Amino acid sequence: MSTTTGPNRRTVLCGLAAALAAPGALAACSSDAGEFQPGTPTQAAPPTTAAGGTPLARIPVGGGTIVTKGEQTILLVQPTAGTVKGFDASCPHQGTTVDPPQNGVITCPNHFSQFDGATGALRKGPAASGLTEVPVRVVDGSVQV
Ligand code: FES
Repeated sequence: MSTTTGPNRRTVLCGLAAALAAPGALAACSSDAGEFQPGTPTQAAPPTTAAGGTPLARIPVGGGTIVTKGEQTILLVQPTAGTVKGFDASCPHQGTTVDPPQNGVITCPNHFSQFDGATGALRKGPAASGLTEVPVRVVDGSVQV
């Protein structure tokens, strides 16, 4: 029986991948690969509560998270604690899914239109209008669309 005192093979390979900035390799090395990452549009919707909504705790105050309902992609934002709004996450310019707000601004990663993080109003084009609000309500700590 042998004992291992140094880094294992996975640790060495992950370190090498990090050094070479290989994003695909890094994803495979992540200990939480596959776990929901708020604010990452390509991730699946977060777990739902028993009431069928998104747990309020999954929406960062001052930020937001992307969820899906059927075919619709929705950006849930919480500008201040306990105040939640929903917006159609499709950019009005060409339909790219916008990113959750950072520093009060929602940005489209495609052509960088910007929208107000609390109201969805247009701040900067090329989009010609703001985000479309989607009615949401908070019931027992669960955000329902
Ligand atoms: S698709 Fe969003 S700015 Fe063009």
